Amino acid sequence: MAGEDHRVTQVHSKCRLRVEMGGGLNLAFTFFFRDQHVLERVVDHVLPRLAGLSHPRFWDAGVAMGQEPYTLAIIVAEKMSHFSFANLRIDSTDVEDTGQFARIVEAGEYPDEELTRLPEGIRQKYFEPSARPGYLRVIDSIRRRIAFQRHDLLTCKEIGAGYSLVLCKNVLLHFQPSERIEVLRMFHRALAPGGLLATEQTQQLPPELAPLFRRVTPDWPVYCKAEGDGCES
Ligand SMILES: C[S@@+](CC[C@H](N)C(=O)[O-])C[C@H]1O[C@@H](n2cnc3c(N)ncnc32)[C@H](O)[C@@H]1O
Repeated sequence: MAGEDHRVTQVHSKCRLRVEMGGGLNLAFTFFFRDQHVLERVVDHVLPRLAGLSHPRFWDAGVAMGQEPYTLAIIVAEKMSHFSFANLRIDSTDVEDTGQFARIVEAGEYPDEELTRLPEGIRQKYFEPSARPGYLRVIDSIRRRIAFQRHDLLTCKEIGAGYSLVLCKNVLLHFQPSERIEVLRMFHRALAPGGLLATEQTQQLPPELAPLFRRVTPDWPVYCKAEGDGCES
């Protein structure tokens, strides 16, 4: 097909060799405050787990152009003290490899028209005029919390460890069942004991991973890393 981007990505031995067709942008549909009520619930569950952590870290995987991690940061900012929020880092990753997503996320600039339906007061509080006509920019105190890096989940190599939250929405559905299992194992390794994993509503935890995670919400797939004794809250 004309203009189609065909790429072959060699991945970790447990994950299959994958032929990707189509530009990343085609799969990158997202918007600000998507799944707002879910993110609110996730944040309500994760905040008590941050007590005693001087530099808490979240991993948002498959962030497209950054609307989700910025939404997450804004929701946290609304619920957390200014002082604690300033030490939070949200590692934001995506497989897109032209650098386009990285530039957008790092700039934190979005078309004005994309920001017309935000919850009341959010636009005024967290966005400011940008030098680019027709665009608004996420304010510094929010932008500084987001660190973007390119990362392919199908390498099954975690970007770090000790995360209090791994958020991965609307990404796993693109993977084969065996890939999903290995990616979820990777998330388990990346989480701190008692850390939370949140996915999209249609995602079911594969039965073989049941010993690794404990579900914490009945109506949405939010799981606690079942290791140590941090799953009670
Ligand atoms: C539909 S968007 C999801 C955006 C956001 N998480 C949300 O729920 O609105 C899916 C994103 O997953 C990314 N993605 C697809 N395969 C990936 C992989 N192997 N590793 C990392 N990201 C991937 C795509 O590039 C795209 O930006």
